Amino acid sequence: MRKPFVAGNWKMNTDSHTGVNLAKSLASGLSESTGKSVDVAVIPPFVYIPAVVEAVSTARIAVGAQNVYIEEKGAFTGEISAAMLKDVGCTYALCGHSERRHVIGESDDLINKKVSAVISGGLLPILCVGELLEERKAEQTSEVVSRQIKAGLAGLSAEKVSAVTIAYEPVWAIGTGLTATPEQAQEVHALIRKILGEMYDGKLAEEIRIQYGGSAKPENASELMAQQDVDGLLVGGASLKSDDFLAIIQAAV
Ligand code: PGA
Repeated sequence: MRKPFVAGNWKMNTDSHTGVNLAKSLASGLSESTGKSVDVAVIPPFVYIPAVVEAVSTARIAVGAQNVYIEEKGAFTGEISAAMLKDVGCTYALCGHSERRHVIGESDDLINKKVSAVISGGLLPILCVGELLEERKAEQTSEVVSRQIKAGLAGLSAEKVSAVTIAYEPVWAIGTGLTATPEQAQEVHALIRKILGEMYDGKLAEEIRIQYGGSAKPENASELMAQQDVDGLLVGGASLKSDDFLAIIQAAV
């Protein structure tokens, strides 16, 4: 009942040439039938968004942004609003990716405002949550993820939350080659769905898609996707190679 959703987060990689080429090979490599059964998005750096939107326009591939600002417009030098992202053809925006939380220092409160601004601006947020290695070792995973979900969605109505995708990305698995086992992923995904059920209702919790992210690759995509509460993948490194990303999408069918 939940349509699989695979997104490729390019992070601060590619250039105008390699980004467009990657987008074009994905567009030509994605079959019509696969594109119908899986929602696919690519999330390039801001500056390449318009070129990538154009390059994927022949295929069922949406484009997202890696970040967004909380205000609509005005004197916020260097920031980009949800309205601007929509204007250039974006559908999704990541909120609270672990690199924004831990490298840039974004707080749960700021991330909450971003989720809200993204929905108000007519885009679909992907709210990223996940624990650090020391938090997992200290058995604080449930507490951390629960806090990030509750704070990230604070004040949002059920109607608004139905626009949200959650991405569970254990920080220790991101870019490290260490993937959570399918059982570890399922355990946290089930917890997230339970929290959503408590915050809203069971029906909404059943409808919201929860992606797994953290060293997802063709070799582990099928076993992750086989888990009951894993509805898709948020892919970093492996989304930069069209063959790998297409194989991951295929595993989600
Ligand atoms: P990775 O990144 O697949 O390179 O681990 C995932 C992410 O940060 O979204």
